Amino acid sequence: MQQINIIDAPKHVDEEVKIGVWLTDKRSSGKIAFLQLRDGTAFFQGVVVKNNVDETVFEQAKKLHQETSFYVTGTIHQDDRSHFGYEIEVSDIEIVGQSEDFPISPKEHGIEFLLDHRHLWLRSRRPYAIMRIRDQVIRSTYDFFHQKGFIKMDPPILTGTAPEGTTELFETNYFDTPAYLSQSGQLYEEAGALAYDRVYSFGPTFRAEKSKTRRHLTEFWMIEPEMAFMHQEESLAIQEQYIAYLVQKVLDNCQYELKLLDRDPEVLKPYTQTPYPRISYDEAIKMCQEGGIDIQWGDDFGAPDETYISDQFDKPVFILNYPKTIKPFYMKSHPTRDDVYICADLLAPEGYGEIIGGSEREVDYDYLKKNMEAQGLNLDDYGWYLDLRKYGSVPHAGFGLGLERVLTWICKLDHLRETIPFPRMINRLRP
Ligand code: 4AD
Ligand code: MG
Repeated sequence: MQQINIIDAPKHVDEEVKIGVWLTDKRSSGKIAFLQLRDGTAFFQGVVVKNNVDETVFEQAKKLHQETSFYVTGTIHQDDRSHFGYEIEVSDIEIVGQSEDFPISPKEHGIEFLLDHRHLWLRSRRPYAIMRIRDQVIRSTYDFFHQKGFIKMDPPILTGTAPEGTTELFETNYFDTPAYLSQSGQLYEEAGALAYDRVYSFGPTFRAEKSKTRRHLTEFWMIEPEMAFMHQEESLAIQEQYIAYLVQKVLDNCQYELKLLDRDPEVLKPYTQTPYPRISYDEAIKMCQEGGIDIQWGDDFGAPDETYISDQFDKPVFILNYPKTIKPFYMKSHPTRDDVYICADLLAPEGYGEIIGGSEREVDYDYLKKNMEAQGLNLDDYGWYLDLRKYGSVPHAGFGLGLERVLTWICKLDHLRETIPFPRMINRLRP
């Protein structure tokens, strides 16, 4: 008999098959038992009818505990009442691994309890759906950048320098000198763009964020494309195409997962249409002020401000040209204004905040050097970066997208912590 996965059940209707499963829940009466089953690929129901099976099979089914693993044999039927659409009528059960007192029962648990048991919580429906959407977004990222002619170039994780400011660094001891876990691969990707035209990185990023917010992890995954001979407008076009592509691929391939998460696909559809609106930082400040928010030109947007701005649009929105005082040294100066950079953040709709930060890069050697000195950066550390402006400097641009931020929005979650298998936050390093 053929052993299959639940996900392939639709191809085996009316056939007898064998599946390795775990029990998630069960309900039984004197004559029938309903077993909720999962095998990692999907969830569905097993039905054991007392009169149709051996006495011992029915007795065994009634005694199964949550998360006991077993082989189930039976016939696949269509079942239009369930999310999945199919079920198995059980003829035999063969226990593999017992499980008693599984800590996560089908009742509600507090979030800290669930996070303490993350290694087991991952088996539940919500994490299942989120991790599969995460995988979809990861695969679609590789596909998108490959189609656009990028190569993936991996920057180091252990670094001697800090591109995004020095306050949020994790320091570690590197043979008696300090090293830092990477906050961003960008400076290395710039070297890559000047070597290979279009590159991107996709890897873990570390920030010692002291703030406890729903949008910050201390370890998150970032995608950082960098493109040579490119100005900001073309970079923005790639950014919006990339987001639209990700949403489209989730809609194409993750309908079951979206259903499990109660995420209405109709809400996601408009996000597949580009272009996305663009407003300037100046306009965004004015918009906030007119909405009664106490904010001045020069302030950075807090989470409520970003939510207010994104609520004025029904698609992601770019905010262009931020004040120099609140952005890093490597951004390109505006040609006609000396108070702002050529940069943009992309805000997700529905109040999910910044999902992309990017800019055109400063190309002028002297200007960049002065800017770095003014910001107190040690030029011994950054000599290699200045070399990029010394030998064939070209206009180039890039951006960074936070994977967990995008997933939180696509899945419509309250907090980033559910989008990564084992979240790292200020108060959480285990499991
Ligand atoms: O805006 P950020 O800090 O930009 C950079 O790091 C640039 N070097 C990127 C580039 O131009 N190559 O971070 C980029 C994105 C943010 O828009 C956000 O989506 C995500 O990374 N991000 C975080 N995600 C989770 N937890 C955190 N603590 C994050 N900090 C930033
Ligand atoms: Mg940013």
